[in-house]
Amino acid sequence: MTDDWNDYADGWDDNDDVRRYASRAFTTLDEHLDIRGKNWRSKRVLDFGCGTGLLAEKIAPHVAEVVAVDTSENMIAVLQAKNLPNVRAVHGDMLAGNVQDLETGVSGFDLICASSVCAFLPDYSGAVAVLAGLLNKGGHFVQWDWQASGNDGFGLTLNQMKAALEAATLGSIRVERIFEFESDEQVMPVLIGAGVRNTE
Ligand SMILES: C[S@@+](CC[C@H](N)C(=O)[O-])C[C@H]1O[C@@H](n2cnc3c(N)ncnc32)[C@H](O)[C@@H]1O
Repeated sequence: MTDDWNDYADGWDDNDDVRRYASRAFTTLDEHLDIRGKNWRSKRVLDFGCGTGLLAEKIAPHVAEVVAVDTSENMIAVLQAKNLPNVRAVHGDMLAGNVQDLETGVSGFDLICASSVCAFLPDYSGAVAVLAGLLNKGGHFVQWDWQASGNDGFGLTLNQMKAALEAATLGSIRVERIFEFESDEQVMPVLIGAGVRNTE
């Protein structure tokens, strides 16, 4: 992925669809994991491909720390300007090599979220494997992505998601259509993919 995302950073938070997607992701995350419950207050979360932090800022009040990572410098700059107390915004590519080179504290997560990121990655399955390795035992991975319609090659299929989560040896796998967006008489379904790092 190139850093074309830099060009979207300025108006990102003003885009109704983008804000609605983040809201739906948060609602479904809460339904899936009770993220607003007291069990999460001491936990560490990675928002991978965080953009301007629209999801990170919803999760942060309920957990100890959110590390929010993105390869787009401009997206990270917008998030940094929000000065959220327990959100650490990190510019860099966790998939490009040794994450310890990026910054300390970029592993040992109880939850890793990736909201509308994975379908844009050149090696989706490889990325899930890397991210799964950054989870604490019993930690959760949750992604949301457009469901591929089959024709334009954009998005992910249910089978692709299931295969990637299985290949990353995650357990308790959940893959399903979770919400839909309607625009221009088109219905665009969104998939959730979730799994848990084994405790052994
Ligand atoms: C569609 S945007 C979603 C942003 C945010 N998650 C949201 O929902 O508003 C995709 C984001 O993924 C980021 N991205 C793409 N490849 C990445 C990578 N290898 N590591 C981290 N972020 C990446 C882009 O820079 C961009 O900010």
